[in-house]
Formats: sequence, C-alpha cells, structure tokens
Amino acid sequence: MRNDLAKILLGEEEIQKRVRELGAELARDYVGLEPTLVCILKGAVMFYADLCRAIPIQVNMDFMAVSSYGNRTKSSGEVEIRKDLSRPIDGRHVIIVEDIMDSGFTLSYLSRVLASRGAASVKICTLLDKPERRAPGITVKADYFGFTIGNEFVVGYGLDYAERYRNLPYIGVLRPEIYENN
Ligand code: IMP
Ligand code: MG
Repeated sequence: MRNDLAKILLGEEEIQKRVRELGAELARDYVGLEPTLVCILKGAVMFYADLCRAIPIQVNMDFMAVSSYGNRTKSSGEVEIRKDLSRPIDGRHVIIVEDIMDSGFTLSYLSRVLASRGAASVKICTLLDKPERRAPGITVKADYFGFTIGNEFVVGYGLDYAERYRNLPYIGVLRPEIYENN
C-alpha cells in the first residue's frame, strides 16, 4: 500500500497526539452532559475509536452511515442515510464525529437532520478539514477539528479510495495515477 502513496501527510504519532488533545478538549466542554458521539461510518471509524478512548467522561456511542463518493473523488452534493442511529437523540448533546469535511454537504445535511430530531445541541468534530473545497452556499463549520489540509485526496486511518487503504495507520496522499486510471 505504501507504494501507492505520493507522500505521508500525517504520521501515526502526530495523529495520536492530536486525537488525545481533542479528547481532552471535549471532556472539558462536555463534563456532566454525557454527550452522544455519533460515528459516521465507515471513514470515521479509526478516529472515532481513538477519540472515544481519549475522553475520560461518560459518553454514549452510536453509529450512522451515509452515502459517499463511491469510487469517485468528487462529491455529488446528494446525501442519503444508509444506516440510522439505534436510539432517539431528543434532549441529548450530540457530537458528530467525521473523518473529513470536504464540500461540506454531508455535515451540513447531518447537523440539520440531527437538530430537527430535538437534540439539545449538535456539534461537529472532524479529523480533517479541507476549507478550500467548501461548496458555495455551505456555511457549516467544524466546532472541533484535528488538522486543516490542502486540496489533496488523502487515504488511510479510515479514509478510503474505492474501499481500499482504510487500514493504513497513518494518512497519505494517493498518487494521482491510482485514480486517474479508473
Ligand atoms: P463532503 O460532503 O464533500 O464534505 O464529503 C465528505 C466525505 O467525502 C467524507 O466523509 C469522505 O468520505 C469523502 N472524502 C472527501 N475528501 C476525501 C479525501 O481526500 N479522501 C477520502 N475521502 C474523502
Ligand atoms: Mg466518510
């Protein structure tokens, strides 16, 4: 897998250090509130598992899956819920945990949907943010983010290209010829 990458953008230790910082920040902000951390499958799974373990207060865990890029590297702007939460969230403090914010369509849609279900609050925690790529008219912002990155397609630590590379323990930039051949 390493040979398919042009470079490693974020190494294992750098990621783990930042995740621990985010966990400590969330623990301070949510003490006494027992938030529900919503993992957006599948991309956020590594980040979510590490983040939850870095938060030393009571939290609830739940999972959602939404439609994503498929095998393409650009967002369609359409979002579809493929798997919904297992419990109601009315009155609960919700933190959406996502791998990456790109066009912003996914998180804009999800925060609206979860707020409309009567959550006491809805905040966004994304590992990566690509602010340059935000679609026109999208105003949603990440309340918590790990790293800001440029306009590059990245894989690893949960992020995929065509379902591959999610199991890399670090984040790298895929060589363009890997997806240009498709
Ligand atoms: P958005 O709705 O355009 O913000 O897209 C968010 C989703 O697109 C993420 O949850 C990822 O699944 C996917 N995505 C965006 N950029 C990348 C990338 O660089 N690598 C892998 N997946 C990405
Ligand atoms: Mg995703």
